[in-house]
Amino acid sequence: MTIPSFTLNDGWELPAITLGTARVRGGAAVNQFQIAINDGYRSIDSSTSYDNEGAVGEAIRRSGVPRAELVVTSKLPGKYHRYADATTAIQESLYRMGLDYFDLFLIHWPLPKQDLYVEAWQAMIDAQKRGLIRSIGVSNFEPEHLDRIIQETGVTPSVNQIEVHPYWNQERMVTANRERGILTEAWSPLGRGSSVIKEPLIQSLAAKYHKNVVQIILRWHHQRGIVPLPRTHNIAHQRTNLDIFDFQLTDDEMAQIAALTKVEGRVVAGQDPNVYEEFE
Ligand SMILES: NC(=O)c1ccc[n+]([C@@H]2O[C@H](COP(=O)([O-])OP(=O)(O)OC[C@H]3O[C@@H](n4cnc5c(N)ncnc54)[C@H](OP(=O)(O)O)[C@@H]3O)[C@@H](O)[C@H]2O)c1
Repeated sequence: MTIPSFTLNDGWELPAITLGTARVRGGAAVNQFQIAINDGYRSIDSSTSYDNEGAVGEAIRRSGVPRAELVVTSKLPGKYHRYADATTAIQESLYRMGLDYFDLFLIHWPLPKQDLYVEAWQAMIDAQKRGLIRSIGVSNFEPEHLDRIIQETGVTPSVNQIEVHPYWNQERMVTANRERGILTEAWSPLGRGSSVIKEPLIQSLAAKYHKNVVQIILRWHHQRGIVPLPRTHNIAHQRTNLDIFDFQLTDDEMAQIAALTKVEGRVVAGQDPNVYEEFE
């Protein structure tokens, strides 16, 4: 299966779907990620906080797929935003994976109350210059956080990974990213197993296109120019989640799915990036 890709603002390509990996760890994770790579996934999203960087690296080695064909992401935890901490944290993440570079590395949360994310961003810029990271990006950044790092360093992130799903369509942030030339990645793209997959609208579209409900949601992300990161413990789900590139939702259907958004639609209440703090 050939997966299309998006071109980032630094010229590198990002496959149009990425394997989410939170809560998948240990030997089962190695097995599952290796199967994912052998089934066609070319992009994997990990994080220091997921405790599975080792499993990702091991799965890559066991897959036999050349390293250069894979896009590997990890993230900087909040406790390491100081320049020297960020610099060593990137190195430690690489050692855990057993890799010598990341394709994409993200600041996991801005933690604006700590006010250290510009320092962290500068460390990422310098790590990129030293060849440890190919593309540098952020996660959960609001427009003011994006503008501040761009103004203070002159370097625009390639990616902003944010929560997006039909109950939290994030039109404001997707537009803000696009206006700055930043690609949006969607975390919890399926609403983390919420009732969104039971929505009658999505079920009727699944019947119309002979797809399952999750494929309809993943396709909605794709047609918005967003890279979704679906996560599963189920190998069959992992396989079918890749099969979204052979049909097209209409503009009207896209708008109907977007209209499912809720005022309090986040999967976890209180994860407003302006105030939320996560240090691990
Ligand atoms: N940057 C950040 O701050 C941040 C925060 C959270 C998450 N993330 C990233 O985003 C990824 C995904 O988010 P998430 O883990 O919160 O949730 P998610 O991908 O929206 O949802 C995961 C749920 O969807 C179910 N699912 C997946 N494929 C399915 C299918 N084909 N049919 C039926 N159910 C299916 C899974 O159940 P089964 O196991 O039964 O398939 C699981 O319960 C994470 O793994 C992580 O990489 C990033």
